[in-house]
Amino acid sequence: MTAPHRDFLNIREFSRDELHALFALAERMRSGAYTARPLTGKALAMIFMKSSTRTRVSFEVGAAQLGGTAHFLSPRDVQLGRGEPVPDTARVLARYVQGIMIRTFAHADIELLAETADVPVINGLTDLSHPCQILADVLTIRQHLSSPDQAPVAWIGDGNNMANSWIEAAALLGFPLRLACPEGYDPDPAFLAFASNAGADVQLLRDPNEAVRGARVVTTDVWASMGQEEEQAARVAAFADFQVDDAMMQRASADAIFLHCLPAHRGEEVAASVIDGPQSRVWDEAENRLHIQKAIMAALMGGEPLS
Ligand code: CP
Ligand code: NVA
Repeated sequence: MTAPHRDFLNIREFSRDELHALFALAERMRSGAYTARPLTGKALAMIFMKSSTRTRVSFEVGAAQLGGTAHFLSPRDVQLGRGEPVPDTARVLARYVQGIMIRTFAHADIELLAETADVPVINGLTDLSHPCQILADVLTIRQHLSSPDQAPVAWIGDGNNMANSWIEAAALLGFPLRLACPEGYDPDPAFLAFASNAGADVQLLRDPNEAVRGARVVTTDVWASMGQEEEQAARVAAFADFQVDDAMMQRASADAIFLHCLPAHRGEEVAASVIDGPQSRVWDEAENRLHIQKAIMAALMGGEPLS
């Protein structure tokens, strides 16, 4: 019997109103107006089957700031890495902790974890999606652009986990999204179908210059994600025309900002002059991971209402 709780595997698990409440809560956390410690006496298990800098540290620090503790579990240390089944791990962890954050490969693994764990499960990135990151990105847009709710976003490059979560965010929050991906590197069809069924203004294009025209947010990601390292050479060739450089930024709106989830490869998906230039907001974007994840933990583990 599963105790009532909510998971955060994808953005669509929140309604539009709840997402706005989460952003407002994160903004109160960022400004220092929020001083409650709803995780007091509570613990978060953090399973990392892939590397991480931002996700690990922001969840760890965020849990501490909310009064709780966070416990880093890597496959080298925990039995999951030696083949202990996901459901067994989930059931056991749920006896010790009040929430589980996991970064892993197959999205099916996080679904299985969520089905069997009797506590909230939070997606810290799978091959399919990266919802915490995209909520941090939208929080950054709210921080830096006037009338952010309608700001057109251009996604340039791989139709990967980031692209999929951008599609969901556009469908739920209502901003226009243009994705430019080379053929063979499209986003997940189920995410595109979700947007289309929602009547979202989401277009998949092949030409990055068309996608950035009029955009107020230009964003990209590495050409080879974690787990795709052996495809690096083929991807460098496929994405050759997809570098976000100064010429591309000039086709966007004059007030456009540049976002990148990091880590970045300067000279591949983004020119150093763009990521280190005046339109870049990547450091605020990284900081916003802390604020939005605190809001998510406060809501899912700490009983903070989202209405
Ligand atoms: N953007 C992001 O998720 O970074 P890490 O891989 O460092 O966690
Ligand atoms: N798409 C990248 C994001 C890293 C934060 C990856 O999955 O490796």
